[in-house]
Amino acid sequence: MNEQLTEDGRLKHLLTLDGLPARILTQILDTAESFLTVGDKEVKKVPLLRGKAIFNVFFENSTRTRTTFEIAAKRLSADVVNLNIGTSSQSKGETLLDTVANLSAMQADMFVVRHSAAGAAHLIARHVAPHIRVVNAGDGRAAHPTQGLLDMFTLRRFKGGFHTLRVAVVGDVLHSRVARSQIHALTTLGCPEVRVVAPKTLLPRDVESMGVHVFHKMEEGLRDVDAVLMLRLQNERMQGARLPSAGEYYKRWGLTPEKLKFAKPDAIVLHPGPMNRGVEIDSAVADGVQAVILPQVTFGIAVRMAVMSMLAGGQ
Ligand code: CP
Repeated sequence: MNEQLTEDGRLKHLLTLDGLPARILTQILDTAESFLTVGDKEVKKVPLLRGKAIFNVFFENSTRTRTTFEIAAKRLSADVVNLNIGTSSQSKGETLLDTVANLSAMQADMFVVRHSAAGAAHLIARHVAPHIRVVNAGDGRAAHPTQGLLDMFTLRRFKGGFHTLRVAVVGDVLHSRVARSQIHALTTLGCPEVRVVAPKTLLPRDVESMGVHVFHKMEEGLRDVDAVLMLRLQNERMQGARLPSAGEYYKRWGLTPEKLKFAKPDAIVLHPGPMNRGVEIDSAVADGVQAVILPQVTFGIAVRMAVMSMLAGGQ
């Protein structure tokens, strides 16, 4: 049984997109559509999560994910608590589960968790009381499900659907939780051609078992794609990876206007952020007309509202 679903098939926790049925992914994307206009209203609020206590517990740095989860929770009228891990009792040796147990004693209804250890959100989900919901906001290199979902939302908004799409995921796939979530979502939603384009040293050994086509040259991997999903070079997760210098990486794998011309003329460019300009992406592309990087951030609010409302409402 999928630990993320209730016995009658509703979303209980969001921990990974691996194994989640297309029905649930589509329900999240459809629900997010209905929240997109909340941000345009004078009063940017709906009362769906009034009285619920949501704890943002980020053990790793974040700009986009933590902030948009907070905005999303506030737009749903929830009470939001941001635990500052730097000044929390973690520094005195408290365990992750003890921290969560204490926050649960403060009558938390939902935890949004980011952690450098793969499986941290799963561990929490297995230990909380049955009424508490857990959302994985990124665990190690394993999964970043709401990023994968907001990328799918962006693709659907700009390209209309998944069934005719040719998509390239480019860069440091090996260390990327985002890439894993994107690939699971794309294959589940029926994208017929998912490519990964990367140096051999930045690909997991078993990547083809995820249903992707592997390319080692930008010219071949980007040829006629509808969307380029760029990945950040994850310096903080490199442990002994054999890599050329940042300059050499940029020359071979950096997305420049010249390399983007291999894609379809109307191809869009996504990046989860934070970007390393001049390493994996050229500023002319990042700020160019084909980039949808800032719309991704805005869509992230609606997608996170959808996830939290489905979890809290048991839809
Ligand atoms: N995309 C993403 O996870 O960005 P943050 O690390 O800023 O949250």
